Amino acid sequence: MRTQVGIVGAGPAGLLLSHLLHRSGIDSVVLERRSRDYVEHRVRAGVLEQGSVDLLRRTGLGDRLDREGLRHEGIELRFGGTAHRIAMTELTGRAITVYGQQEVVKDLIAARTAVGGQLRFEVEDVRLSGLDSTSPVIRYRHQGREEELHCDFVAGCDGSHGVSRDAVPAGVLTEYERQYPFAWLGVLAAAAPAAEELIYAHHERGFALHSMRSPEISRLYLQVEPDTDIADWPDDRIWSELRTRLETVPGWSLNTGPILEKSVTGMRSLVVEPMRWERLFLAGDAVHIVPPTGAKGMNLAMADVALLGDAFAAWYHEGRDDLLTGYSDTALRRVWRAQHFSWWMTSLLHRLETQDPYEAKLQVSTLHYLTSSRAYATSLAENYVGLAEV
Ligand code: FAD
Ligand code: DHB
Repeated sequence: MRTQVGIVGAGPAGLLLSHLLHRSGIDSVVLERRSRDYVEHRVRAGVLEQGSVDLLRRTGLGDRLDREGLRHEGIELRFGGTAHRIAMTELTGRAITVYGQQEVVKDLIAARTAVGGQLRFEVEDVRLSGLDSTSPVIRYRHQGREEELHCDFVAGCDGSHGVSRDAVPAGVLTEYERQYPFAWLGVLAAAAPAAEELIYAHHERGFALHSMRSPEISRLYLQVEPDTDIADWPDDRIWSELRTRLETVPGWSLNTGPILEKSVTGMRSLVVEPMRWERLFLAGDAVHIVPPTGAKGMNLAMADVALLGDAFAAWYHEGRDDLLTGYSDTALRRVWRAQHFSWWMTSLLHRLETQDPYEAKLQVSTLHYLTSSRAYATSLAENYVGLAEV
């Protein structure tokens, strides 16, 4: 089989790239290891920046997003027994939209299949070759058969455990990494959210986040030890810990209900540079990871492929290679801004393993400053809603 751009991975990055290429008249094939059902039901991110929403709307994917997405104009920072609102829209003119990542993925798969887009699910053993030639080949196994996909370019959109990055020869890429001594336990619960906006809670027992997916479904997170076994967290323990960390403001109580899904996610920061080698272009979690506190991962993945979509269009339709050549440098500017913001939000809100009392005092001082200074609050807000120019 032959295509113009071979895409590995059907997460937000790979699917959106395929959609954008189609809109520019460029052919692509997406190869995904998991089943369609699996990727459509994988519970992960929930916050779309204004720029991500604008991109989805602009490219014909705004219908369900506009009907079901929840537009938020502020977030709450809760600490020291008080609640403080960061008025994002008042400060920046922009807003975020709460819309589950799996809903974005469903919309993208529906849009691709509606126009006969080539998505191959449950492929095995993906191998890349010829990346330094003008005709790379992706080999894989599908339904027991060995297959070959010949293409002009390969887009590695296969997330943090993918294979694309490993196809680059040793010595080419540089990794910048930071580990954190904690993880997040996330739950999805059939309980009406107890607040209209997200609550980021700083607490001496650890961070907690109150989010949502709809007027009937809450999405909640707890900071836990990195090696946490989910079996040690029966539902009662989760609710009790959430109450302790979130019910710190007089008169506010959490709504509870059946837990529909729960999982533990490790946290790390990683950037791999450059994001291109010869005819391989890397995007999304395949080249950079952020801790989830800043709600940036999915948005960065979408911003990467927006650049790639334009770069491939310039190459195919105008014979220009400047955007492809500049892709890595341009993308990395946004990536590093999001790296800093995610690291900063994480450092500000989590209980540190060492319980360094000096550091803990600095966290509280920063929280007071953030919630009393319009200048500092604006900095948080503009990063959170997403900067138009980086
Ligand atoms: P992925 O979504 O990981 O997609 C990669 C795809 O490639 C997968 O479908 C995978 O199965 C496939 N694949 C892997 N290896 C292979 C292979 N060898 N062959 C074929 N296919 C392969 N981000 C936000 O922006 N906002 C948030 O609020 C937010 N909250 C989060 C909360 C949690 C608990 C977690 C875990 C993440 C959160 N994120 C958030 C991050 C966000 O989910 C990721 O950054 C996003 O999924 C990245 O998209 P991607 O397409 O690059 O990678
Ligand atoms: C959600 C996830 C995040 O990482 C975050 O910072 C805010 C919200 C969520 O899943 O709703």
